[in-house]
Amino acid sequence: TVPVAASLALGYILGSIPFGLLLTRAAGMGDIRSIGSGNIGATNVLRTGNKKLAAATLLLDALKGTIAVLLARALFGEGGAIVAGVAAFLGHLFPVWLGFKGGKGVATYLGVLLGLMPVMVLVFAFVWLSMAKLSRYSSLSALTATLVIPVVLWILGRPEMALAMALLTIITWWKHKPNIERLILGTESRIGDKG
Ligand code: G3P
Repeated sequence: TVPVAASLALGYILGSIPFGLLLTRAAGMGDIRSIGSGNIGATNVLRTGNKKLAAATLLLDALKGTIAVLLARALFGEGGAIVAGVAAFLGHLFPVWLGFKGGKGVATYLGVLLGLMPVMVLVFAFVWLSMAKLSRYSSLSALTATLVIPVVLWILGRPEMALAMALLTIITWWKHKPNIERLILGTESRIGDKG
């Protein structure tokens, strides 16, 4: 139980660092939560028109999940790695520092996946990029990719990882409820549109 609690704490603390908010604030752009979708993630940072800052947000929001998984694996083994990955994701979505109002989880989902099973990032990237090319919807691309990942993990014979990622997929979909409504209404903003 000590490794479980420690993995949870380690993952949550790393995951709860809101890089999108910190980077845009440091760049003197004000509060990212008051533009576009109001989200603190890379997609919304891109709506400021600053591609470098959006890329840095994506990278750092992902890497905090990867680092949580790798640290916990080194300290507590594979079980700890999965627990820390889930906790990092929850930390990003529900950061105590922002009144539990965090991001939608896609970058951190990808980073956790990179830590757990690196080759799966190629599957995620393939599905995300294909969907983004077809639709130019960041949200739809993420929703599709997160649906595919647990299925592929299950087929590859990694049931623990498949279940953990399925949990993250369900929470990702739930956090995308406003996006899903806009997709259905045809009012979702496309990649390249300004907020
Ligand atoms: O990856 C986040 C994306 O799916 C949605 O972001 O800002 O369009 O709500 P946003």
